[in-house]
Amino acid sequence: MNTLLVGILLLTIPIQRSLPANPSDVDRTFSFRVVRLQCLETPYTLIDLRACKVKLRRNQPTLFLFEFDMPKLLDKMYARFTVNYKLTTYQPLLIDVSYEVCAAFNQKPGVNPTLDYVIETIRAHMPQAVQPCPYGGRYYNMSNFSLDEKHLPKSVPAGDYRIDMRVTDKHNVTMISLQCYVAVRSKGIAKLSMLEW
Ligand SMILES: *[C@@H]1O[C@H](CO)[C@@H](O)[C@H](O)[C@H]1NC(C)=O
Ligand SMILES: *[C@@H]1O[C@H](CO)[C@@H](O)[C@H](O)[C@H]1NC(C)=O
Ligand SMILES: *[C@@H]1O[C@H](CO)[C@@H](O)[C@H](O)[C@H]1NC(C)=O
Repeated sequence: MNTLLVGILLLTIPIQRSLPANPSDVDRTFSFRVVRLQCLETPYTLIDLRACKVKLRRNQPTLFLFEFDMPKLLDKMYARFTVNYKLTTYQPLLIDVSYEVCAAFNQKPGVNPTLDYVIETIRAHMPQAVQPCPYGGRYYNMSNFSLDEKHLPKSVPAGDYRIDMRVTDKHNVTMISLQCYVAVRSKGIAKLSMLEW
């Protein structure tokens, strides 16, 4: 196994450990910036996508502009959520979770900490996105929010990340497929890139 891969595997554990912990006001060793959001496989048949982009703002967190109309109702949705780290290309790591969204929204907290973390993070930013199924039958306006650092791990290696999320119906028809690019830079003197972390 090459060193890089070992490094990535070693990294996964501390990151996951620091994930769902109390999202308190700890000083973070990094700063981050959302640089891009794109929706793939468009146009969709299950939703009418009205906005899928970010607005970069000077000295302010990036604003998400994400809206869709979903006249259909779905009682099962399958989501896959991965976090990728860019070495020369983006490598999947840290988090790779797949779940049935309707069951996940109904699951009691504590059973699956990574899933709890993902749901809580989504709920904190887009409360209307987390709702009991059937899902749909309405307009979802998830514009006008920015990523809050208190939901991120306490320590994250510097580098370029790509967060992927794909949601489908039970026939694997894409409801939404998006990629969000985030640049993480270390604060102060610590140079914490993936390989030194
Ligand atoms: C969605 O919300 C944003 C921010 O609150 C607002 O500017 C926008 O007009 C809304 N979109 C629709 C279609 O209502
Ligand atoms: C966007 O959110 C900010 C703060 O959360 C709020 O002050 C502002 O009124 C919102 N803008 C719109 C158009 O809803
Ligand atoms: C679902 O669709 C994706 C993208 O088209 C494909 O990569 C994947 O293999 C499909 N999964 C199944 C179970 O068919």
